Amino acid sequence: MATTKPPLPWKIRLTIFLLSVVSDASRRSNNTINRRLFKLVDRHTPPNSTVVNGVYSSDVTVDPSRNLWFRLFIPSTSSAISAASLPVLIYFHGGGFTFFSAASTVFDVVCRLYCRSLNAVVVSVEYRLAPEHRYPSQYDDGHDVLKFLDQNVTVLPNIADVSKCFLAGDSAGANLAHHVAVRVCKEKLQTLKVIGMVSVQPFFGGEERTGSEMRLNRALVVSVERTDWLWKVLLPNGSDRDHEAVNVSGPNAVDISGLDYPNTIVFMGGFDPLRDWQRKYYEWLCKSGKDAELIDYPNATHAFYLFPELPHTRLFFSRLKEFVTKQISNVN
Ligand SMILES: *[C@@H]1O[C@H](CO)[C@@H](O)[C@H](O)[C@H]1NC(C)=O
Ligand SMILES: *[C@@H]1O[C@H](CO)[C@@H](O)[C@H](O)[C@H]1NC(C)=O
Ligand SMILES: *[C@@H]1O[C@H](CO)[C@@H](O)[C@H](O)[C@H]1NC(C)=O
Ligand SMILES: *[C@@H]1O[C@H](CO)[C@@H](O)[C@H](O)[C@H]1NC(C)=O
Ligand SMILES: *[C@@H]1O[C@H](CO)[C@@H](O)[C@H](O)[C@H]1NC(C)=O
Ligand SMILES: *[C@@H]1O[C@H](CO)[C@@H](O)[C@H](O)[C@H]1NC(C)=O
Repeated sequence: MATTKPPLPWKIRLTIFLLSVVSDASRRSNNTINRRLFKLVDRHTPPNSTVVNGVYSSDVTVDPSRNLWFRLFIPSTSSAISAASLPVLIYFHGGGFTFFSAASTVFDVVCRLYCRSLNAVVVSVEYRLAPEHRYPSQYDDGHDVLKFLDQNVTVLPNIADVSKCFLAGDSAGANLAHHVAVRVCKEKLQTLKVIGMVSVQPFFGGEERTGSEMRLNRALVVSVERTDWLWKVLLPNGSDRDHEAVNVSGPNAVDISGLDYPNTIVFMGGFDPLRDWQRKYYEWLCKSGKDAELIDYPNATHAFYLFPELPHTRLFFSRLKEFVTKQISNVN
């Protein structure tokens, strides 16, 4: 019968366990984070202008007053190809709106994989974190990076084709990507065109407890106790989890049926407590008349893609390549 233990190599299980223990210990009862403690499990990597495994990187400042910047990853094969030929993937890292950075080694590694496997220019956004910065700081930062790129396209290498942008994120980053997409659909950008949404195990929720939250509540990383805390320190005082940022398809949802919302691919995993919310998000996109597909990996846990050695990660990147190629051929 259904087990609640995913099949994972012991080394990965240990890494996830350590991350969970340290992030729990760094959450203080007065709703602040002990950043120095979390730093013990969150190594950072500087950008690297030397090509490593076919990718080089640099950091670009957007607004120094709030430390808003992004890390740019560029495939090295690009010197041989013509101008404006590669898609641009604008990426928001996960971490419950509270943990990690675009400089975190785990996300630097993942963005290099996106860059190489999709042959895309990747923009990995460094947004402000909760609880020091509550909603809507993260959404404002994401939106402002798109506005900045829209008006300052020359910060990207000339091989980047900004008429073929994808918004992407994992977990809280996928929630961010969704809300940023809604904002830019409403106000229309000048040069950037978002043609696809890559939603990897998006972090949504609500007051209601779903079946998967109850059944998989002993999971590491995103148990109900943890996600409740994360929402509490993100949302403005007095909001509950039916806030539009959380219960995206609920009573306070924004009506997107009239928006030019990008075609979307949603990935979920069988061992992810958030899977019922992810399915609801997908169903809501379809009901709103949007083009969406749902990919379900029955054996995958939350955040599987942080481990390139897992078989799912390979499947994931090849499925994603198909999606990206299809969206590009639709607009060509
Ligand atoms: C899921 O895990 C089980 C147990 O390890 C294995 O037998 C099965 O082949 C896996 N399925 C997929 C699709 O990876
Ligand atoms: C929260 O607790 C920590 C450690 O006890 C303390 O250093 C910090 O000043 C407190 N912050 C607030 C806003 O109360
Ligand atoms: C960049 O990568 C090269 C090759 O791996 C390495 O030798 C160098 O130390 C790296 N530079 C930085 C700033 O990390
Ligand atoms: C574009 O870049 C210029 C120069 O850095 C800056 O002043 C301007 O605010 C940027 N545009 C946006 C929308 O951020
Ligand atoms: C938010 O709630 C906390 C605890 O309930 C309270 O101490 C604080 O004053 C409130 N802040 C605002 C801005 O209402
Ligand atoms: C959102 O909130 C409503 C009311 O609490 C609830 O019925 C619904 O199941 C929640 N979730 C979604 C996805 O609508």
